[in-house]
Amino acid sequence: MKWLLLAGSMRKESVNKKLMKIVENRVGALGVQAESVAFESIEMPLYNGDLEEAKGVPEGIQTFAKKLAAADAWVISSPEYNFSVPGTLKNLIDWLSRVKPVPFKGKKILLLSASPSLVGGNRGLLALRVPLEACGGFVYPTMFSLSSAYEAFTENNSFVDPKNEKRLEAFLKEFSSC
Ligand code: FNR
Repeated sequence: MKWLLLAGSMRKESVNKKLMKIVENRVGALGVQAESVAFESIEMPLYNGDLEEAKGVPEGIQTFAKKLAAADAWVISSPEYNFSVPGTLKNLIDWLSRVKPVPFKGKKILLLSASPSLVGGNRGLLALRVPLEACGGFVYPTMFSLSSAYEAFTENNSFVDPKNEKRLEAFLKEFSSC
């Protein structure tokens, strides 16, 4: 089983990248082969229909689409921006939706979020479900939201609170067996 992991943030110190690093380190034990893609490595302009007509879908999107099509599941850890999806991630989804067949159509998708807020990033994930499901992705009903994320990680890719470790482990196990 192969999962493609993407943190929906380009920041070096991104808490979503930190969360995804822990996911990457844990899934081997579930028999999952993980491939991580850095969001900032995906070269894409802002979606523009004229650009698409003139030049087609950008090379960077096509490369990512191939990786996605070859994976059994897509795991996304996304920040919440203004209670919704970061525009950068929505732009990626919009470009991917122009690849035919849509590379995540019929694919299992798992959503996580890390946020410094006390309530986590679930509102953003609810918004993120919409375009993913609109394009035929099977978004797993349960989502993982990490609150107070600026204080949640240790220096060596682990959680400060062991309860988060347990919660993530159970979440990933459940998804891997669905
Ligand atoms: C935010 N942030 C934020 N956090 C949140 O919990 N709910 C929100 O609605 C928002 N809105 C928001 C909008 C914009 C434009 C920015 C830049 C930030 C804060 C956000 O969670 C924080 O910057 C995280 O650190 C972003 O995730 P990464 O980059 O650390 O993974």
